[in-house]
Amino acid sequence: MTAIGLDGVVAAETLMSLVDGQNGRLVIRGRELADLVAEDGFEGAAALLWQAVSDPAPTRAAVAAGLGAARVAAWALVPRFLAAARGKAPIDALMLGATLLDDAGDSPAEWRLTAALAVFLPALLRDRDGLGPVAPDAALGHAADILRMIRGAEATAAEVAGLDAYITTVIDHGLNASTFAARVIASTQAGLVAAVAGGIGALKGPLHGGAPGPVLDMLDAVGTPGNATAWLAAALDRGERLMGFGHRIYRVRDPRADMLKAAVRRLDAKAGRIALAEAVEGAALALLADRYRNRRLETNVEFYTALLLDALGLPRDTFTAMFAVGRVAGWTAHALEQVRGGRLIRPESRYVGPLAA
Ligand code: ACO
Repeated sequence: MTAIGLDGVVAAETLMSLVDGQNGRLVIRGRELADLVAEDGFEGAAALLWQAVSDPAPTRAAVAAGLGAARVAAWALVPRFLAAARGKAPIDALMLGATLLDDAGDSPAEWRLTAALAVFLPALLRDRDGLGPVAPDAALGHAADILRMIRGAEATAAEVAGLDAYITTVIDHGLNASTFAARVIASTQAGLVAAVAGGIGALKGPLHGGAPGPVLDMLDAVGTPGNATAWLAAALDRGERLMGFGHRIYRVRDPRADMLKAAVRRLDAKAGRIALAEAVEGAALALLADRYRNRRLETNVEFYTALLLDALGLPRDTFTAMFAVGRVAGWTAHALEQVRGGRLIRPESRYVGPLAA
């Protein structure tokens, strides 16, 4: 059977983001990624996305206050969440957690879902370390509150800026697999809760959001810069894919990679790890260029995601869940846009099996 991945198929028109794979450019609601990260931050970026699909359009200040209040409201669900999610992998726990919300509520479902994932993940991390959850603080920014709820103490300004850069950088990215999944679900009028739960499910796999934990495993296994080429060549010889490289759309370097690399540098926490990562990246790009002469395979977002989230002290099995904490704003914006368009997404398959005799 032919492998069909819908390459090049335009399945939606969107006001949300432009992914320019030839020029390595990401524009979100008219804002260049670098400006979005430097000037808007997560709440500003979320406001921009939701403004396109909300009437009246919320200001940045309204979104910041609304997310703060919704984090406090989500706190009431934490006991139920922990009772159900304890022992699950963080990304599976968030998928379950999303389903604890209702589509109807006293604030927009996109605000409540975005807030709830940000409250649930820290509670789960503390719970598995035998620590009680820390209540949200509505007065803090989203990234600052997430780090405080994880640690039980305020993070430094540099750390807050690092996490804010991460969740802003990954907030939206065209019709990636999880956003497409969310739009398909929304197109059946199933609601935002189902769309987000489905988006989390699609994000989980290593070909999408599940790669950064394995990136760190790879760096650990390589160990020293001098070992990079031999280790990576052996992995390719075994037919393995190098995590953090390649992309369906980008034929040049993923612009998010540099955004996150700059954020790691500002943290200055793992200088040795950056040197190793740069050696591994250089060796991987050389090997991939040599082995795939007709297909450019470049560094993608997940490579420096791994370094940044590791430098922020997050365990590697939570990286994909933190991706969901940022991307949920994009999923909900796309889902709302899909509902406004009003058309069921329903492609066809070509039957290649036997016909009845
Ligand atoms: N390492 C080694 N080979 C690779 C890699 C890689 N990272 N990526 C692609 N290739 C090879 C494929 O094996 C294939 O070779 P073949 O033609 O000999 O079979 C060729 O390049 C083309 O690959 P496709 O699978 O057609 O590319 P596709 O667009 O489907 O894949 C993907 C994109 C899934 C991201 C792929 O590059 C990959 O698996 N990367 C590693 C996992 C990863 O980093 N995931 C995170 C992606 S970013 C994100 O979603 C947030």
